[in-house]
Amino acid sequence: MSEKLTLGIESSCDETSAAVLRGGREILSNVISTQIPVHQKFGGVVPEIASRKHIVNILPVIDEALRQADVKLGDIQQVAVTYGPGLVGALLVGVSAAKALAFSLGVPLIGVNHLEGHIFANFLSDPALEPPFMALVVSGGHTALVDVRGYQRFHLMGQTRDDAAGEAFDKIARVMGLPYPGGPRIDALAKEGEPNIDFPEALMEKGNYEFSFSGLKSAVLNYINSEKMKGRALRTADIAASFQRAVVDVLTQKAFEAVEEAGRDTLVLAGGVAANSGLEARLRAEAARRGIAFSYPSKLLCTDNAAMIACRGYYQAEAGHTSDLYLNAVPGLGLEETEH
Ligand code: KG4
Ligand code: ZN
Repeated sequence: MSEKLTLGIESSCDETSAAVLRGGREILSNVISTQIPVHQKFGGVVPEIASRKHIVNILPVIDEALRQADVKLGDIQQVAVTYGPGLVGALLVGVSAAKALAFSLGVPLIGVNHLEGHIFANFLSDPALEPPFMALVVSGGHTALVDVRGYQRFHLMGQTRDDAAGEAFDKIARVMGLPYPGGPRIDALAKEGEPNIDFPEALMEKGNYEFSFSGLKSAVLNYINSEKMKGRALRTADIAASFQRAVVDVLTQKAFEAVEEAGRDTLVLAGGVAANSGLEARLRAEAARRGIAFSYPSKLLCTDNAAMIACRGYYQAEAGHTSDLYLNAVPGLGLEETEH
């Protein structure tokens, strides 16, 4: 493994982040400037505001990442940047900054898929982790099971047909009057409640790895509306606990079915929803029961951050997959079957 210095840049949604990595796994800095307080009063991310905030933040965040890493811009040997999926205007800020830096420094540019970045966050949290393993990716925009066969070989087992898990958390929280982002709020509330309300499980069909959260989401919303119409006080903690249990049930069942089918001995968790304490606890317990190794990123590395982008970029570049200066933002980029 080389000791190359990689600058990572992330601006796909509401976090502006820059990081410096030495080699593939040593974080020298990982600066994250979140816009959550700015978007909270609107109940969700406002794309135009996000882009503008990224423009204001990007250079100070990069400067701070270099300062904390105690390196100079001229020491950077490659620049990795998220080019999708995400908000187009937000992505363009990071992509433009990365292109300008790579061009002016005369170093390689590496366009990174944000979802692959989330998976690679596990290499930073768990230095001994090596492919192959099964990855459960649960973020605000995606829910998927990916068989990671090698650093460049991903097989998509299945993904959501409709809403992502994080999206369902956010929408339900909004209806319950909780501030954005809803996931962490529901997580905290669930700890105070009992999962004693029966919501339909989110697509428990066996033999496929697709998810569907829209039915569950509607059931919870209908329940909330009917309780309100009956003039009853909402049992918010029990609703949160019951909803979260339904989500965790289906994610756990499908993840271990996939582990078994692919014959893997390791499961990793990735994406913003990986920070959910109920999900982490259940996967950990189930993995221990089955004798499967389980890894998940630290809270900081679960959220959108540039260290995971630099890590993914490092391994891509080692395999010779860099980008040219025509790199563009691809808002709808998915988790593809990859044989880079
Ligand atoms: O990965 P991420 O930061 O953004 C995307 O790439 O989409 O994920 C953000 C999502 C949000 O929907 C947020 O509510 C959810 O992750 N989230 C959580 C928790 N922390 C963040 N969901 C459930 N429990 C949490 N503790
Ligand atoms: Zn993300």
